[in-house]
Amino acid sequence: MKSEISIGLLGLGTVGSGVAKILQQHQKDLRHKLGVPVLIKKVLIKDEGKDRQIALNPDIFTTDIGGILNDPSLDIIVEVMGGIDGAKQAIEKALRAGKQVVTANKDVMAEHGHELLKLADQEKCDLFYEASVAGGIPIIRTLEDGLASDRISSLMGIVNGTTNYILTKMKKENMSYETALEKATELGFAEADPSSDVDGLDAARKMVILSSLAFSTEVHLDDVLVRGMSEIQDGDLELADQFGYTVKMVGTSKKDEEGIEVTVEPIFLANSHPLAAVNNEFNAVYIYGDAVGETMLYGPGAGSLPTATSVVSDIIAACRNLLLGVNGKRLHAAQYERVMKEDRYCHAKYFHRLLVKDELGVLSKLTSIYSQHQASLQSVMQHPIKSEGKAEIILLTHHISRQQHVDIMSDLEGIASVISHYRIEGEESV
Ligand code: HSE
Repeated sequence: MKSEISIGLLGLGTVGSGVAKILQQHQKDLRHKLGVPVLIKKVLIKDEGKDRQIALNPDIFTTDIGGILNDPSLDIIVEVMGGIDGAKQAIEKALRAGKQVVTANKDVMAEHGHELLKLADQEKCDLFYEASVAGGIPIIRTLEDGLASDRISSLMGIVNGTTNYILTKMKKENMSYETALEKATELGFAEADPSSDVDGLDAARKMVILSSLAFSTEVHLDDVLVRGMSEIQDGDLELADQFGYTVKMVGTSKKDEEGIEVTVEPIFLANSHPLAAVNNEFNAVYIYGDAVGETMLYGPGAGSLPTATSVVSDIIAACRNLLLGVNGKRLHAAQYERVMKEDRYCHAKYFHRLLVKDELGVLSKLTSIYSQHQASLQSVMQHPIKSEGKAEIILLTHHISRQQHVDIMSDLEGIASVISHYRIEGEESV
């Protein structure tokens, strides 16, 4: 029986310092939960000269990563240094050295998670990554354990705090996109390069991780259809509101007999859907399971202490396994072969906002294109605009396939220009 558990912490930035703080401040509780102390013994830092507001003995700081990964006295390596290649190599080396690994790195887990989990299985080590998706929300554990008995058919997530913050401020405070993004950056939600937030890559990475777990399949980043916030045009938020919807950047993942569909895009979400009430930088994941029905987890998706809470929970899980001698016993192999759904099988209602010449017969030309593609329309309306000689037409379809939607968009060329288009979600149970 071990008398203490030793940790090597790779990184002392926002998340790393939160981890150190929780491990120190909750040491008594951890000792009670585990029966032994959990101590940080070495910390990888980048800059030795930096002044740090953290009560750790600087003697344990090092800039030598090898000295941590090769230290046989360390039981658990906690990777919170960020980046992709260096972090991936560190995780691989730690696993090959027989260490348990905890990471908060969504980029590494989305792009290399499948191979790293296989390596962990092979080395009989734990690789935990709760903090990689939705910061403080225990969504990975919910999918792996809490809902293990169910068959999940769909999952929808607001998994990027920055875009949710921007959309909330634009809608509720009439703030401009630029000011809202600036504020999200100041508040520390946005990535170092915020284009990965606003273009949807950050959310896509998180949806890869969630979809792979929910459907026990190796979903890859290029399986995800991604549309960013630049698709949202002036006036769309108000129009959505008029029809009873809210524009949200949502990751959606669905599975049926035709395969899996994963998307990240701004959608028109019915105001009655629980995700429509998730505002500011908060994250939430809505899950539909065949047996459980609807569930939703809500909480902070970023920030030092919320993210560190998930990291420390993973440390506790790894410690429990260490004390029981059962690390690396969880099976990660995917159960199902990866079958991604073709566009002709992906069905939804759509909102189309078009600009046409304001002339006789234009409406019938438009609707005949929808008829040619067997797309039935729920409503058609003319939106009053000021532009001379032009008319703005709003069309809402009944359920059509994405293929029909794409074909219609392309056939509209010459008759109408597409101002914007959205998938509609959340009007009925999935
Ligand atoms: N930039 C991310 C977000 C941080 O806004 O959600 C958390 O992953």
